[in-house]
Amino acid sequence: MHFQWYPGHMTKAKRAMQEDIKLIDVVIELADARIPYSSKNPDIEELARNKSRILLLNKSDMADPALSREWIRYYESRGYLALAVNARQKNELKQVNSLIQKACQEKIERDRRRGILNRPVRAMVAGIPNVGKSTFINSFAGRACAKTGNKPGVTKGKQWIRLNKQVELLDTPGILWPKFEDQTVGQHLAFIGSIKDELIQSAELALDLIEFLREEYPGTLKEHYEVEENGDSVEVLRRLAVRRGCIQKGNEPDFDKAAFLLLDDFRNARLGRITVEKPVGTAT
Ligand code: G4P
Repeated sequence: MHFQWYPGHMTKAKRAMQEDIKLIDVVIELADARIPYSSKNPDIEELARNKSRILLLNKSDMADPALSREWIRYYESRGYLALAVNARQKNELKQVNSLIQKACQEKIERDRRRGILNRPVRAMVAGIPNVGKSTFINSFAGRACAKTGNKPGVTKGKQWIRLNKQVELLDTPGILWPKFEDQTVGQHLAFIGSIKDELIQSAELALDLIEFLREEYPGTLKEHYEVEENGDSVEVLRRLAVRRGCIQKGNEPDFDKAAFLLLDDFRNARLGRITVEKPVGTAT
């Protein structure tokens, strides 16, 4: 399937991100633990040069735990402070604090050498749409947190949430853009539901998903839908349609309905904790 999408508002997002990033010391980048490569912005290396970097693999509750561990090791080996998290679980986010402390250490030391004491470290959350940025900010910083208010001049219009004495977090996340050129990236983002469904052919996408599942998670379709997995993927989707009563006029299987059902089950982790990408052979 060919994905063509470059939403115009992403150009605007890019400009906004370039401005916001000037104000901060630490970037807390969120990626989706099911597709850590495809959900990671390609230009962040350049944008966040000279900034401390934290990478959170979010939605790890839906990802394959063994692969999440591999991805963490992979990113750690590339110099990131990395952690798998579930932004919906407040109590799981405590470890993020110590990562921020680590990330800040260098800046605090540098300030101290220059005689600057107690200047708070500024952090921002960034990531492509739908990775869980707002959920993370709400869980991590909480609405109860005192906002520090607008600071005239430097940070006009920006709200900072004081996390503790040393750290302030920008209350609006930076929106990054995915790797638009790469078709596999488009496919993987579509798998997890990050590309609007009206832009894609659900049946074709479901066939791609069937191929992936049979290859990497054999037995999943059989177990979940009680269908034989072998043979042509169109045949598998047909079996699934029949099994789940997705039938249209003339007693024909409704492929679109079956595709929607499969994609929806996958996106909500009803097929289990599945990670689409492996660290081997990929680059940031
Ligand atoms: P964004 O700001 O990066 O665009 O993402 P946002 O926080 O809006 O999150 C997108 C969706 O992902 C939300 O679901 C949110 O609840 C869900 N989500 C965020 N973090 C996690 C996580 O760690 N695990 C799981 N399982 N889900 C997560 P939604 O369906 O759009 O809304 P709702 O279900 O919260 O109503």
